[in-house]
Amino acid sequence: MFVRRESPGSDFAPIVRVPPKSDNPSGAGDSPASEAPLCSRTVSDMIVTVDGPGGTGKSTVSRVVAAKSGLPHLDTGAYYRAATLAALEAEVDPSDGHAVRDVVSRSTFAQEGGRMYLDGREVSVGIRSDRVTAAVSAVSAHPEVREALVQLQRAWVDEHGGGVVEGRDIGSVVFPDATIKVFLDASPEERARRRSMETGEPLDEVLADLGRRDHIDSTRAASPLTIPDGAVMIDTSELSFEEVVESLLALIRAKS
Ligand code: DC
Repeated sequence: MFVRRESPGSDFAPIVRVPPKSDNPSGAGDSPASEAPLCSRTVSDMIVTVDGPGGTGKSTVSRVVAAKSGLPHLDTGAYYRAATLAALEAEVDPSDGHAVRDVVSRSTFAQEGGRMYLDGREVSVGIRSDRVTAAVSAVSAHPEVREALVQLQRAWVDEHGGGVVEGRDIGSVVFPDATIKVFLDASPEERARRRSMETGEPLDEVLADLGRRDHIDSTRAASPLTIPDGAVMIDTSELSFEEVVESLLALIRAKS
């Protein structure tokens, strides 16, 4: 349902305060001052994976859980979107895996402070364009592209000392030994309703597009969207945003 309710007031003891890096002007891993967690104990290598289809609230939930727990947040979908943007800008056919992989290996990708950078240029808005959204499923289906981007994602988590990592294959392929694995799901109608409210697009179009992307993401040969072994499955259809966040925080608390 994801109706915003008054925050129930958290008794959550944040897990780790990630210090701002001196060479990181964007303050990656920093939470807003109002949410700045105090260090209760150091769990520097905790990895929380959040997988699931689009429209489950995965991104917002992951971001808020990361801020409240003091863990850094990584959106891996942004890497696939940035790779797609790079391919489109290079006028490479998104269905040509080798050509896209070549473009990816000539490009640099970075994610800091919730922003995505391609070759040092911020592309946070550009990667959400309709053109990129239409081609990203084709790009993310190529094993050679996935291999390159997974390496970057693992390096990011290594460098940042753990994190809340969201995507489609995070608990199954990228971090199969993660501390906590979560799979968020919701009915297609509910996911489409949320997305349509967010973007203002007609509900039937959003439903058809989600169905098309779900089908490609879950039937592709390379790292299809699946519920990872050992994942806690949360159906968010009937839950409020705060209830979903609290479920994840409870899992983190139990492991710290
Ligand atoms: O979460 P998103 O809509 O921004 O993801 C964009 C695309 O990237 C989507 O088609 C699924 C794909 N993706 C993926 O294949 N593996 C991931 N770990 C993350 C996203």
